[in-house]
Amino acid sequence: MIGKLHPLLVHLPIGFFFLALLIRVLIALKKISVSESFFKWVLLSTFVVSLLSMGTGWLLSGAGEYDAETLIRHQWSAVVFSATLLLLYFTRNKARVQAIPWGMALVVLTFTGHYGGTLTHGADFLQVKHPDQQHTIENAQEAVVYEEIIRPILEKKCYSCHGSGKQKGKLRLDLPEFLLKGGADGPALEAFHPDKSLLMVRMLLPDSDEDHMPPKGKPQVTEEEKALIEWWITGGADFRKKSRELAPDEKIQKILRSLEAPVEAEAVLPEKEVKPGAAADLEVLKKAGVLVNPAGLNTNYLEVNLRGISPGKDELKALEGLKEQVIRLNAASVQQVEELAEVMGKLQNLRVLHLQRTPWSDREMAGLKGLSHLRVLNLSFTRVTEKGLKELDGLKELRRLYVYSSGVKDRAGVMSALPGVLIDTGGYRLNTLPGDSLDL
Ligand code: HEC
Repeated sequence: MIGKLHPLLVHLPIGFFFLALLIRVLIALKKISVSESFFKWVLLSTFVVSLLSMGTGWLLSGAGEYDAETLIRHQWSAVVFSATLLLLYFTRNKARVQAIPWGMALVVLTFTGHYGGTLTHGADFLQVKHPDQQHTIENAQEAVVYEEIIRPILEKKCYSCHGSGKQKGKLRLDLPEFLLKGGADGPALEAFHPDKSLLMVRMLLPDSDEDHMPPKGKPQVTEEEKALIEWWITGGADFRKKSRELAPDEKIQKILRSLEAPVEAEAVLPEKEVKPGAAADLEVLKKAGVLVNPAGLNTNYLEVNLRGISPGKDELKALEGLKEQVIRLNAASVQQVEELAEVMGKLQNLRVLHLQRTPWSDREMAGLKGLSHLRVLNLSFTRVTEKGLKELDGLKELRRLYVYSSGVKDRAGVMSALPGVLIDTGGYRLNTLPGDSLDL
């Protein structure tokens, strides 16, 4: 119990010490004059609070699980620090020789503090932590698998015992050459063979097994992370290959997708603001039952949900009038798409387009050519085929393409034709726009 006071009490000798040092310097500079007995009491109190701090620290060391080596260093530097304080106390009248213990105390204090910090916060406690703890990748298809997907897992779950600081089992996992070299029992990795890779084998052992990694009580590797590591090893444990080169199957695609920063949220707003859409156009759409909403807080950009209504001449004209403002368009389940396709091609700032469950076909695809900012395109349950997707070649910002239950059969082919685009053929629920009612 009293040991718990240590982290609080350690700051007292530090404060007292610097106060004493300040007084000493000011005296030397003849800025102040203090009585001999005052200075003596300041030094003595510094020593006493350092004893208090050591006492509580000693109690705490018995209770906590600390790295033994660091603990010993911390303890001994604390002892030396206190001894130096005593030395300062006894030499307080000998201004000339005092410079040495002052300097010593300063150095030892730094070490004590550093080891103490290492004990409570770990060896890397001085490193700036990335504010974003949940690791995300920008583009799951283009990610270098080792660097962006595997390494962060090992870093999070293994480096604390198999990194630059410690090498349990003589194994380091923090650099490719160490991964290949392995530990006491030989290589940790065997390319193409997860079942022969010690790293994988140890993780797959039952939790209760003594050899299970990471050891019991430590943060464990999740099922998804294991699947990713297995996929990487099966694909040859290559340190440079990109995700799409390792042919992720549906299951891995799904996991990869969950690692990706949400595309639609990102796609929300262009940097430059636009002028408000014409009130007359907005009115026409609203009258027809079309949902028109601001695309975010304090913006003139719009999202439009046709709610399955096939727009007539007036509505199409109104939509065209808003061509700068509309960044998301939900045309799911709209049955008349030819005229719509024509207008759609003019929505120059469009980011997200939902066309699922429409008769949209390869014929209309050409209309999307000009949508240079399009990031998300949903073509699920349409008649579009590989041929139609060719029209998307020039859309450099496209990140996600949903083609579930469409005419697209050759997913791998599409994937290589559209590098950087996550091709989604899964049958799970798709992200939809707020206000959707007719969606999947
Ligand atoms: C809390 C410390 C700790 C963490 C975290 C940890 N390990 Fe270990 N690891 C050990 C210890 C201790 C040994 C040596 C004893 C043994 O072989 O079981 C070891 C041994 C190993 C070995 C065998 C090395 C050899 O050649 O004998 C492998 C492989 C391994 N760990 C993989 C991992 C992987 C992969 C992770 C992360 C997912 C991990 N460890 C996380 C403590 C840890």
